[in-house]
Amino acid sequence: MDKLVIEGGVPLTGSIEVSGSKNAALPILFSSILLTDPVCFRNIPNLRDIHTTLKLLGMLGCACEHQKGRITVTPGNLLPEAPYDLVRTMRASVLCLGPLLARIGHARVALPGGCAIGARPVDQHLKGLELMGARFELEKGYILGRCRKLHGARITFDMPTVGGTENLLMAAALAEGETILENAAREPEVVDLANFLIACGARIEGQGTSRIHVMGTNGLRSVEYAVMPDRIEAGTFLVAAGITGGELLLRQCPVNALESVILKLQDMGMVVSATPAGVLAKCARPLRCVDVTTKPYPGFPTDMQAQIMALMCLAEGAGVVEESIFENRFMHVPELVRMGGNIRISGHTVMVRGVRHLTGAQVMASDLRGGAALVLAGLAAGGITEVSRIYHLDRGYEGIEDKLAAVGARIRREKE
Ligand code: UD1
Repeated sequence: MDKLVIEGGVPLTGSIEVSGSKNAALPILFSSILLTDPVCFRNIPNLRDIHTTLKLLGMLGCACEHQKGRITVTPGNLLPEAPYDLVRTMRASVLCLGPLLARIGHARVALPGGCAIGARPVDQHLKGLELMGARFELEKGYILGRCRKLHGARITFDMPTVGGTENLLMAAALAEGETILENAAREPEVVDLANFLIACGARIEGQGTSRIHVMGTNGLRSVEYAVMPDRIEAGTFLVAAGITGGELLLRQCPVNALESVILKLQDMGMVVSATPAGVLAKCARPLRCVDVTTKPYPGFPTDMQAQIMALMCLAEGAGVVEESIFENRFMHVPELVRMGGNIRISGHTVMVRGVRHLTGAQVMASDLRGGAALVLAGLAAGGITEVSRIYHLDRGYEGIEDKLAAVGARIRREKE
C-alpha cells in the first residue's frame, strides 16, 4: 500500500489543469452499453474507478481500447453479469443495470453493500426500473433483473439521487414511449450524461432541472464525446490555495458548476475570480469560519464537505458543518483532530473552532474526500504528515502528488 508524505507550510503558487470528471465519466462509459457501434471518449481521467469501469465493461462484453488520451468502447455480444468482486470496489458499478435491461432485457448485478460513508441503498434505482416494466429478485446477494421491453413511466424519486437519475435516464433513452423523472438530481454530471445521450440521438429535455423528460428511441448512434472537467477536483485545489496561503490558477475549471463552493470560499475571505485563462484563487488572510450545510446540487456538495472543514480548522472563529446527504461522512474528523484541529461531532453536525496551527502527524484516509481533506491539512501543517491508505485518493484524484508538487508542494508517494 502507498502513502503520501507531505512536508507542510509551503504556499502553493502556479497553475494546475483540472482533469476530466470521474463522476461524469463513469455513467457516460456505462452508457456505451446502449450503443451498437464503437464510441470514443476524450478527457477521461486516469483513475482507479475508471480502470474498474473498463474492466467491468470488458466482462459485460465490450471491447475497451486506450489510445492517445482517448478511450474507445465497442459493445459486442453483451453478457449480463456484474460480479461482486468488482461491485464491492466501486458502488457505481450498479450503473450498468439500467443500460443492460434496456439493451438485452436481463442483468445480474451484485447488490452494493454499505460503504464507509453510509448505507447507500439502491431502492430508488430499482423502484424506477420496476415502474418501467422490470422485475427484480434478490438471489445470493445479486440483483436479478428481467424485462421484455422497458416502457416509459412517470417516476418520482423520494430524494434526488444522482446514480438513480443516471440509471433511469440511460434506461429511458431506449425504452418504448415517454418517461418523466420527477425530483430528479440536477448535478452537472447528470447534465453531462444527458448531453452525451442527446449527442447520440436520444430525445431528452429538462436535464439540470428536477423534471427530466425522455422520449425513447429505437437505437443510438455513435459519436465522439469529451467529458466535463471535474468540479470536485477543482474545488479541492481551490481549498489548497486557501489553506496554504498561496495563489493558484485552475485551467479548465468548471466555474459555473462550482458556484456554491466558490461563494463559501469567498465568504471565508478567499479571493476567487474567473479570468480568461482560468479560475484564479488567492488567500487574503485571515480566513473566517462559516456555516456549511451539504445539499443536493445546486447546494454545497457533500463531496467538498471534508475539504472545507480542513480549511475551517485554520480559519478564525467557529463554524458549523452539517452533513445532510450521507449519515456517516465525518471519519476524517478524528484524523484532523490528531493534527490539532478543534472539532466536535454531534450527530449530523460538527462544530469547528479555528486554531492557529496544525501539526503534521500520521493519519489514515478512510474514504476518497476525507483523504483529500487530510492531504490539504498536511499541506498547511507544520512538520511531516503521512497519509496512509491513499488507495482511496487514487480512486478520484489523477496524479494528485504530481499536480501538487508542480505548484510547489513538498509531497511524495512512498510504499508503506
Ligand atoms: C453520487 C456521487 C458521489 C456523491 C453523491 C451525492 C458518483 C459516482 N458518486 O453518489 O460522489 O457524494 O452522488 O452527491 O457520481 N439514496 C437512497 N436510495 C437510492 C439512492 C440514493 O436512499 O436508491 C440516498 C443515498 O443513501 C444518499 C442520497 O440518497 O443519502 C443521495 O445519494 P445519491 O445521489 O444516489 O449518491 P450516489 O449516486 O451514490
